[in-house]
Amino acid sequence: MRHHIEASRGSKAAFSPAWLIYRPIRDAELRGAWSRRLSTMTTPEGRPGRLLGSALRELKDGLSSLIGIEPTTRRSSGPATMRGLVIERRPGGTESFEIETGPDWVRLSAGGDEGALYGAFRLLQIIAQGIKPEGLHIAESPNAALRMIDHWDNLDGSVERGYAGRSLFFRDGKILPPGPRLEMYARLMASIGINAVAINNVNVHRSETELIYPQRLRNLAEIAAVLRSWGVKLFLSVNFAAPLTMGELDTADPLDPRVVAWWEKRAQVIWKAIPDFGGFVVKADSEGRPGPFTYGRDHAEGANLLARAVAPYGGRILWRCFVYNCLQDWRDRRTDRARAAYDHFSPLDGRFLDNVLLQIKNGPMDFQPREPVSPLFGAMPRTAKALELQAAQEYTGQQRHVCYLPEQWKTYLDTDIRGGSDGRLSRSVDAFVAVSNLGDDPNWCGHDLAQANWYGFGRLAWNPDLAPADIAREWAALSFGADKTLVEELASFLLGTWRAYESYTAPLGVGWMVNPSHHYGPNPDGYEYDRWGTYHFADRDGVGVDRTKATGSGYAGQYRPELADLYEHKETCPDELLLFFHHVPYGHVLHSGKTVIQHIYDAHFEGAEFAAALPERWRVFEGSLPKDVYSAVLDRLRHQAEHAALWRDVINTFFYRLSGVPDAKGRLIYR
Ligand code: GCU
Repeated sequence: MRHHIEASRGSKAAFSPAWLIYRPIRDAELRGAWSRRLSTMTTPEGRPGRLLGSALRELKDGLSSLIGIEPTTRRSSGPATMRGLVIERRPGGTESFEIETGPDWVRLSAGGDEGALYGAFRLLQIIAQGIKPEGLHIAESPNAALRMIDHWDNLDGSVERGYAGRSLFFRDGKILPPGPRLEMYARLMASIGINAVAINNVNVHRSETELIYPQRLRNLAEIAAVLRSWGVKLFLSVNFAAPLTMGELDTADPLDPRVVAWWEKRAQVIWKAIPDFGGFVVKADSEGRPGPFTYGRDHAEGANLLARAVAPYGGRILWRCFVYNCLQDWRDRRTDRARAAYDHFSPLDGRFLDNVLLQIKNGPMDFQPREPVSPLFGAMPRTAKALELQAAQEYTGQQRHVCYLPEQWKTYLDTDIRGGSDGRLSRSVDAFVAVSNLGDDPNWCGHDLAQANWYGFGRLAWNPDLAPADIAREWAALSFGADKTLVEELASFLLGTWRAYESYTAPLGVGWMVNPSHHYGPNPDGYEYDRWGTYHFADRDGVGVDRTKATGSGYAGQYRPELADLYEHKETCPDELLLFFHHVPYGHVLHSGKTVIQHIYDAHFEGAEFAAALPERWRVFEGSLPKDVYSAVLDRLRHQAEHAALWRDVINTFFYRLSGVPDAKGRLIYR
């Protein structure tokens, strides 16, 4: 493994170790303080299992790289004397751990081997951040038991909404054999607490339907074996109509006994090949994918079919709630896509089996720069739920713009969706899922700074109470060295980029002013008269979607009464969501004191100005960041600056032409 660290330090490395680079600590005193406490390593009694083995290897390699020591290892033979690094068991959840330091010792106690692995990574992260060992005592356990990344990768090697090269798993119809890159991938995932990955696209086409057949499972088992060493479970997206698609049955009806038997057989075959296989992700009755509706069955019947088949093996079903009518007619003003998930699923509360998790996107539409939280998180108290976020920057700059998403995610996580003593969204879900922003680019994410979104997702899934600014600092220190100034500058470079992106794109929560299909760049009417149900209704008098109970689609009424009231009235609706909930005249005055039209102009001028300044601001990193990172980011920032100016001009001109209202500050708006 050390070989990989070194190999990837060189500029021609095939892939970057990202935040696991373990740069040597330069401060001699600090190095001494840690090495004094870590010169020996005492491991629990008995032969270490696979996970503990990974933890010990990581510690050895990490410590040798960070502080230049190779601790001598011995196995405990009874109550440990506190000297050196002592790894031991403690009561508690298997993933939990505690790290405590004394004058010449560090105790890492863990509930299970998973906890030892996570604790090992945390200890190394603490050292790499330049934190002093004196008086440390931390205890951690994850907020949610399932912390997952979903790849949207296809067997041909393409990645749906992928902005970082090709698939890490598939190429030209084949499953790639495991190699050093997969090992690095699994380590990076484990280091941020990710414990599950689904490696194929939720849109499961004919060839990917075959992934659950023996000839493919043989290769997948090899991938699962690498992941297993790092505590990461393999999941697959499956095609609900698989028995039909594969020509084995003439139906996929979830209540047909032949279909039930077919899935039971599949499960048996899968778990025989991969005994700790995680389960299925399912996109059914969604954007053309087949589902139970074809047979007049509901989604509980559909999900339970699969859940029953995988239950004997401890498998789980992540059943996606992205179910809406994508064949809408813009002339039909009664249908509101935002309502769809709640309308379809909330009546089914209590009907899903225990091993089903409903996987719900953060907002009711589709990962726009700003949406309200999906009301479904506040409903269905008797159903397990997974939050789905999108690290892939489909609508947030496609990894060509820097857009630090933990700041956005935090607004969702902190929303008090249920009320009561702690009704925050972060406490209302059983799993955190992110759509991956990874590909086979050497830096994994296309944009080097997009690694911070990957890192940040893992950290928030583990502990949603972390502050995005602290996560940014951690990521910066681990990736580029613990120099205080560098860390502060990098963190402050990331912070505010999501709000800037929001301000130079579609205004006040209305969303969707993007080019159809690829979703990059401004096109205010791109989706206005189409079938996807994504409208802004801008005319000469005003803009926005009336989703009130009183006069609109009624969507606002899907929230608990206090939130419903807040959104229902223009007077209380937060500015940033105003156009999501209301259609208002351009002269409507926001809480900020500005009119809507002036806000649109100001936000676009200021957002584009922010972006324009990025390349210049980036120059402080010349010489302090690796050359390749420095210049690759600079290139992208230049593009971002130009592209933000295009956004500004297209959106401002669009609203100026419609409204005829000039900019109060007399800035240039093209006619
Ligand atoms: C978005 C995205 C699609 C994706 C879908 C989903 O609509 O554009 O590419 O398949 O979300 O989440 O299923």
